Amino acid sequence: MDLKQLKAFIAIAQLQSFSAAAKMTGISQPSLSRLLKQLETEMNVVLVDRYHRPLQLTAAGLFFYDKISALLIELDAITHMTQRLSAPSKALNIGFVPSVLYGLLPEVIAIFKRQNPDIEVNLKDISSYQQIEALKSGEIDVGFGRFAHQDPWIQQILLRHERYLVALPKAHPLANVKEQRLIDLASSRLILYHQTHLPASITASSISSTNSKKTKQRVEPIADSVTEPLLYLFAQHGVTPLRTSKVSDLQVALGLVAAGEGITLVPASLQVMRTKQISYQRLIHENVTSPIYLHTLKDFIHPKVPDLLSAIYEIYEKRGITYRRQQFV
Ligand code: BEZ
Repeated sequence: MDLKQLKAFIAIAQLQSFSAAAKMTGISQPSLSRLLKQLETEMNVVLVDRYHRPLQLTAAGLFFYDKISALLIELDAITHMTQRLSAPSKALNIGFVPSVLYGLLPEVIAIFKRQNPDIEVNLKDISSYQQIEALKSGEIDVGFGRFAHQDPWIQQILLRHERYLVALPKAHPLANVKEQRLIDLASSRLILYHQTHLPASITASSISSTNSKKTKQRVEPIADSVTEPLLYLFAQHGVTPLRTSKVSDLQVALGLVAAGEGITLVPASLQVMRTKQISYQRLIHENVTSPIYLHTLKDFIHPKVPDLLSAIYEIYEKRGITYRRQQFV
């Protein structure tokens, strides 16, 4: 079994067609077919059912695809990390979710740049889950997000918990109530905006042997109190909002609040947005917070990331923000 055979199999499995896989890999169709046959013969297993169009994986092929695609992603990550170790970059590539941009990120970057004038800083707006793959592929060196990740390649540092505020239209009957309770908000339409996309490994495993589409199946997020962060917070206080709407991002959610369509919860740093139409109020519940994490690879930390963490702690100290100092493993 060799890498060429495995890559041929992955391309055929993903595209469900020899001709499409040939186009993508630049390997001729007969060669691709030969590589797959060699692999199957060596393993003594039929991986692809060739009698169906589009091509389909057998049950064994599906299992093999799942395991091998994860392995090839890891191999790619190892290659990138090794290359980076041999030639440390003069740039620091930072991934971030939009909500941290309204908080302290600009100040963190300003301090870091002042202290490291010879390092080029590149910022990339990228979801929490995508940050994990981007760290492994070397697209980013560090990521700031709001979801915890369990991944053997990744270490996460919990920076702090930011309190959620309620965002209400100015004309809402509760708009001027200073200390809000979740129970009192249950009858207002709650606008949900978190991207609860499942990790890539789950998406990959959803390729079905009976699936006739040529692309990966998307796993649609389910808006319930387990996968949806805002519903989860309400559920922790025994509250189920009567009506909810789901939108694509936080900006749209605040636009709908401004238009009087409902209410939402946002991290406190967002309270500078649309202040003419939106009233932001505190919640009495101290534990209704949104965490901010720094993510980096476990085995390869860009040499400037510790400086970045120091800049963050410097700001927390200066502003009197509560946090617990952590160190890289
Ligand atoms: C913060 O708001 O605490 C924060 C945001 C982005 C990067 C680091 C810290």
